[in-house]
Amino acid sequence: FIPPSSGGAGGGLVAKDELGNDILVSAYLEKHLAGDRSLAQGLKGDPTYIVVTEDHTIANYGLNAVCTHLGCVVPWNISENKFICPCHGSQYDSTGKVVRGPAPLSLALANATVTDDKVVFTPWTETDFRTGKEPWWA
Ligand code: FES
Repeated sequence: FIPPSSGGAGGGLVAKDELGNDILVSAYLEKHLAGDRSLAQGLKGDPTYIVVTEDHTIANYGLNAVCTHLGCVVPWNISENKFICPCHGSQYDSTGKVVRGPAPLSLALANATVTDDKVVFTPWTETDFRTGKEPWWA
């Protein structure tokens, strides 16, 4: 048995809260409603959104919150149903697909799976489901 590691080449990374504790999915979903997008610590320490689906489960992808323009962390705007960058106004839809520049690219994806009540992020190397293209970040 090899537990999800806290790093390492090709390994999964358990999503952490702002205090560095593992996020427990059962408790998380009590506080985070369907459609929620909240930040966790993800791969390489990057701020990464955990997406709660409309049927109140953890989506199979996380979104790297680093703006593809100049690297500001992009907040989720629930009333606009978009991520809107405070630095230069780039916008991304609810899946992180860029819909307004100057950002040139969509937010990077990570795979998110639930194992032992934890969210495990692994690198996304598959086709970007939003664009049908190879991932620009891999
Ligand atoms: Fe986000 Fe410039 S850093 S729009």
